[in-house]
Amino acid sequence: MTKAGLFLTFEGIDGSGKSSQARMLAEHLRDLGHDVVLTREPGGSDGAEEIRRLVLEGDPDRWSAETEILLFTAARRDHLERTINPALAEGKVVICDRFADSTRMYQGLSRGDLRGLVDQLHNLMIGREPDLTVLIDMDPETGLSRAKGRQGTEERFEDFGLDLQQQMRAGFLALADEFSDRFRVIDGNRDMDSVAQDVTDIVLQALR
Ligand code: TYD
Repeated sequence: MTKAGLFLTFEGIDGSGKSSQARMLAEHLRDLGHDVVLTREPGGSDGAEEIRRLVLEGDPDRWSAETEILLFTAARRDHLERTINPALAEGKVVICDRFADSTRMYQGLSRGDLRGLVDQLHNLMIGREPDLTVLIDMDPETGLSRAKGRQGTEERFEDFGLDLQQQMRAGFLALADEFSDRFRVIDGNRDMDSVAQDVTDIVLQALR
């Protein structure tokens, strides 16, 4: 009999600390003897990492909003086929830094109301939600100042400014209500260890 794995995702605005939390959780679960795959989006497979460069580098107006949705979804499909599904089939815990909820927010809200299109394409090509999604909720001003401190060539959505970050925060909280069966919201405006403790409590409960 094959045991089913657990598919966990982290979501939140840029600078929310979710990537650090995902990493800390992965280490903690490995220490407890779990077989863990830590991955991220866009990316997480060779093809999807190539698409990551296409969507996050270069001129921000390089793609139309619709093309961008197709690219993020194409990256996700490859990631799912090559990394996520095989790991889950082997009974592993998959921890993914961002997933379809990020597309629902960033592509669904930032350039007009395209949420319907995002969902349609998701149903057609992905058709899979996480078992559990941890939303690290964060004050956008703090998040933005953290995120801006990082160097890099990636043209991230944090460059769109505070207004959009505020919209994203509200959007994520609304999404947590919409999918309340799988979402858990954690207050990210605290020190990393307190946040990590909450994350651990929630995930260990889900693993039981
Ligand atoms: P990420 O590497 O998670 O950056 P951070 O650690 O700063 O949160 O994500 C990079 C950017 O990609 C981020 O600005 C959000 C954006 N993004 C989308 O717009 N749509 C998506 O579907 C995903 C997964 C990410």
